[in-house]
Amino acid sequence: MAIIELKNVDKIYQMEKVKVKAVDSASFKIEKGEFAAISGPSGSGKSTLLNMIGLIDLPSSGSIILEGVDVYKDINLEKSSKVPLKLDSKLTELRRSHLGFIFQTFNLIPVLNVWENIELPLTLGKSPATETMNAAEKKEWIEFLLETVGLTSWKKHKPSELSGGQRQRVAVARALVTKAPIILADEPTANLDSKNGDQILELMKKLNEELKTTFVFSTHDAKIVALSDHVIKIRDGVVQN
Ligand SMILES: Nc1ncnc2c1ncn2[C@@H]1O[C@H](COP(=O)(O)OP(=O)(O)O)[C@@H](O)[C@H]1O
Ligand SMILES: [Mg+2]
Repeated sequence: MAIIELKNVDKIYQMEKVKVKAVDSASFKIEKGEFAAISGPSGSGKSTLLNMIGLIDLPSSGSIILEGVDVYKDINLEKSSKVPLKLDSKLTELRRSHLGFIFQTFNLIPVLNVWENIELPLTLGKSPATETMNAAEKKEWIEFLLETVGLTSWKKHKPSELSGGQRQRVAVARALVTKAPIILADEPTANLDSKNGDQILELMKKLNEELKTTFVFSTHDAKIVALSDHVIKIRDGVVQN
């Protein structure tokens, strides 16, 4: 069973006068453990695709299936309710148990130090893989992640005291802390110089191999595409199979 499957997924943005078809009948599968790249030029629909896989954005039609759960079919989502998609409790639960996110702009909490930023998803809510861990086990797991991303000696520092590359390392550790099986990263190296970008990529690849976490990331960088083991090409909203 594929860990992620999209079937005929459309995303149409209704603007005041025109409709924009940002994603046009996308169908593909990503298998467990893959290091998968969504590649295409700016405006081709990469973020829209990732946001739909990440349950941040609703598809206009089609199916999104995560680990066998056909999200909008199996979940009785109250589409008519006024609750924003991001706050829908069933989607939040699915997101928490299945997904970790890495953002282009890092999105760390400025008032929290490195340790606290990594710990935050564990304290915000339950995730099935970590809720049985006691405090000592959680501490050990965070120490392990800090060591893995090379930031053990920076754990007391605030994001403002870190370089861009270091901030993104914190974000990688934070994405992994709940042990979610899928990590989504929208152009994770776009705000980094090429050396730091390469290091983040190598780090993600290492984690993919060692922890068997599935990574799906978007990029328009050919070098990144070369490192991935599955490339999903998108042009003008159309996935080229
Ligand atoms: N919220 C939105 N409202 C209207 N159009 C949007 C919105 N988000 C994205 N689009 C349009 O959808 C298309 C795909 O955008 P996007 O997914 O951001 O591409 P990429 O991430 O590949 O640069 C673009 O034409 C973009 O202008
Ligand atoms: Mg984008």
